[in-house]
Amino acid sequence: MSSPSRRLWLAPSLLSADFASLGEAVHAAEKGGADALHLDVMDGHFVPNISFGPALVGAVRAITKLPLDIHLMISRPLRHVEAFRKAGGDTLVFHVESEDPPLEVVRAIRASGASVGAAIRPDTGIDAVRPLFPQLDEVLVMSVHPGFSGQKFIPEVLPKVRTARDELDRSGSTALVSVDGGVTPSTAVDAARAGATFFVCGNSVYNSGDVADNLARLRAAVESGARDGVP
Ligand code: DX5
Ligand code: ZN
Repeated sequence: MSSPSRRLWLAPSLLSADFASLGEAVHAAEKGGADALHLDVMDGHFVPNISFGPALVGAVRAITKLPLDIHLMISRPLRHVEAFRKAGGDTLVFHVESEDPPLEVVRAIRASGASVGAAIRPDTGIDAVRPLFPQLDEVLVMSVHPGFSGQKFIPEVLPKVRTARDELDRSGSTALVSVDGGVTPSTAVDAARAGATFFVCGNSVYNSGDVADNLARLRAAVESGARDGVP
């Protein structure tokens, strides 16, 4: 059942920040009350876009104590687990649609000492990730097609958020349920109502206005959504 006292995490996505002033974007998020940072790794193969790799994660690690949630949109996550962990990733989130066997990736991430997250694209069913639930610290439900920030939230993914939250709760798991893509104060309310507890926010934090004000609006939205959440 959803509980208003459950911790709600806001995780600004650095993909939407100005890369020429990344340090400022990190500090603004930290000062503005972010709970974590989300870093989108893209290999130009699993998704058409290319973003950044372990060196940038290490540079961010060096200037913040915020937990780093590393979203691996890459075809062969197994090859890179160690590098992203060494660079300072706290949670490594891989896609179950990648080319590596999911259980092996889970084991490798766990063995590295990082927390384990698994992600599904908007058109992937919850069945693809359900068998991993007992071993996960985070279930990431993508609410846009992976590859780019600034897309529109796909509300059809919300039943998957609800299913994940309910099943994790029933089994006693405290894993986070994340939504990623198109999260704004308005869509964040719906995601929180559906049981999401971790909100990745790119453009809604960095695209316009003040980072702290944007985070405050998002905070109010997720808290209100979680209060309305149906048990
Ligand atoms: C998309 C990424 C998201 C993205 C979120 O592939 O996984 O994390 O940066 O950005 P917004 O919030 O702008 O959709
Ligand atoms: Zn992401």
